[in-house]
Amino acid sequence: MARVNPPKEPARPTDPAADPLEQAGFSTRAVRSGTHRSDYGEHSEALFLTSSFVFDDAQQAADRFQNREAGVVYSRFTNPSVQMFEERLASLEGAEDCVATASGMSAILSVCLGLLKAGDQIVTSASLFGATIQLFDNFMQKFGVGVQYVSLTDPAAWQAAMTPQTRLFYLETPSNPLTELADLQAIGQIARQAGVITVVDNCFLTPALQQPLAFPIDLVLHSATKYIDGQGRVLGGAVAGPKALVDQIRQVVRTCGPSMSPFNAWVLHKSLETLSVRMQAHNANAQALAEWLEDQPAVSRVYYPGLASHPQHALAQRQQSGGGAVVAFELKGGDSVELTQKAFALVDRVRLFSRTGNLGDTRSIITHPASTTHGRISEEARLRAGIGPGLVRLAVGLEDLRDLQLDLSQALS
Ligand SMILES: Cc1ncc(COP(=O)(O)O)c(C=O)c1O
Repeated sequence: MARVNPPKEPARPTDPAADPLEQAGFSTRAVRSGTHRSDYGEHSEALFLTSSFVFDDAQQAADRFQNREAGVVYSRFTNPSVQMFEERLASLEGAEDCVATASGMSAILSVCLGLLKAGDQIVTSASLFGATIQLFDNFMQKFGVGVQYVSLTDPAAWQAAMTPQTRLFYLETPSNPLTELADLQAIGQIARQAGVITVVDNCFLTPALQQPLAFPIDLVLHSATKYIDGQGRVLGGAVAGPKALVDQIRQVVRTCGPSMSPFNAWVLHKSLETLSVRMQAHNANAQALAEWLEDQPAVSRVYYPGLASHPQHALAQRQQSGGGAVVAFELKGGDSVELTQKAFALVDRVRLFSRTGNLGDTRSIITHPASTTHGRISEEARLRAGIGPGLVRLAVGLEDLRDLQLDLSQALS
């Protein structure tokens, strides 16, 4: 997987009169779809920083409020900047519809509120972002929704966990930080046969490297805060898929208010224009750094789906166009205390990598998961999840590869 395969493309148009965007390639849609010009004819999209919109007359106000006339009303649920972002992301994910939210977590909450009721069950894996687990365990269970955790990598376990109450399969692939993969075809097929809705958090790879809706998957979800922004500036989230499902989630956003701000939507809409080139560059840097790390004497194991040594490398080649930007590795030797000391020393010694818990930035980031992102779970649960004291996570940015290698090299030695 050293080379990035191009994202799946629709067939070329045969009708020269057809809308050129409808069947255009990924990069063309990234820069041109979801664009609506105002009467000024601006080339770059305008920012609609307004909370509400005026109506021509009372009848128009009544028609807009009651959905008899299409048009904008109030920015909690209709804003042109947000709608442009939603349209562009829907186009890139190959989705019929998309709804934007204030953050990735509010996208996950809106999915739960829109699609679940007391008595329903979610089947998911423990290889999830920590706050998603807390949302399921501390809040959804409080409202009578059951949660069953199974192995991400074993489709048979998803089948076995299903009960008549199962309503949702919730997946994150690749997982954080060990880059385990879920088989989207196999798990999606199991869900579809049982009428269970599948949701895939695609924020690690973005549609530039993985398009879950090309598999039997119903909804794709994003923390747009990560690679969609890609520059560490704003929070955002989104859910894309068939209109009938997205409408149920949009009703939650309209009523409960976890809406994306127009400013963030405008930033994210612009970010999508460079998504493809950024992800290819992230991917190339991460692949090369993962290969280099495998040769370092201080490192015992590297986790990256683009490596031939990854246990699910063949699956990665089938369902991803690249390994992504997140690489994890184990430091060699010692007991738990010693490994923690070695990992802390490495994190302290880097001079270029940023010490922060985020990912999805132009700047490379180093994190010690056991003491930060996964520090609030018990040591036993952490070890069960494979997150040991000597594990280090990199979210590889867009700096020159040689500089990243030099920085890690001096810090590892
Ligand atoms: C995989 C994944 N999903 C969801 C989220 C939550 O996104 P946000 O921080 O935008 O709420 C994160 C945040 O790190 C994440 O890594």
